[in-house]
Amino acid sequence: MEIAVVADEQGVGRSAADVLEEALRHGCRRLGLATGSSPLATYAELVRRHREGLSFAEVDAYLLDEYVGLAPGHPESYARVIRRELTDAIDIDPARVHGPDGTARDPREAAAAYESLLGAVGGVDVQLLGIGTNGHIGFNEPGSSLGSRTRVKTLTLQTRLDNARFFASLGKVPVHVITQGLATISSAGHLLLVASGAHKAAAVAAALEGPVTASCPASVLQLHPHVTVVLDEAAARLL
Ligand code: GLP
Repeated sequence: MEIAVVADEQGVGRSAADVLEEALRHGCRRLGLATGSSPLATYAELVRRHREGLSFAEVDAYLLDEYVGLAPGHPESYARVIRRELTDAIDIDPARVHGPDGTARDPREAAAAYESLLGAVGGVDVQLLGIGTNGHIGFNEPGSSLGSRTRVKTLTLQTRLDNARFFASLGKVPVHVITQGLATISSAGHLLLVASGAHKAAAVAAALEGPVTASCPASVLQLHPHVTVVLDEAAARLL
């Protein structure tokens, strides 16, 4: 595992974009994308580099997770968030941006279909990840099996409180989600975790230096042969 500590969030974005640009230039065609605040500086940097010539025209992108039950086109659905934050601003084919269907009548079927899709392509080349304050990755809350595959999960109150800032009130934050499982995420060739801010420091320390345990889902990274972690100084301060 390679851990890079840089001064601030913008530095995290630049370093993570360096890793992704390098992967794209070496033939990465399946890119795993994350949502939430953590990757925003990375996406801003990728958009800037796209304007300078970095192309995503040959890339298929795969989202980690999605809320269940938001109306199609809801601005906070991850399908819309990723368009707004990244894919509408680069030259990726919108039909090649994939994610779990949170609007499906049967979310379990939608989860299984997404797992099959990921299995059929053999996993992504590089998976970008944020980390929740409780150590979750994707929406794999504490207690998620390290061997889990894509499935429907119930969010903890902590995660709903963390994400309430994106919704009008806590009551509007969905309770259920579809998320790639920890084993699904681990099938990526390269995992790239980004975190910034002091509020992530405890989760980062537990994930990288604590025991490998379902109580801290991100600790599964310790089992993966190719992991890059990019942190700002605040997120790294308990390492
Ligand atoms: C969210 C997402 C994760 C994200 C994490 C951290 O709920 N499902 O993919 O990495 O929680 O969120 P943020 O980056 O906004 O702190």
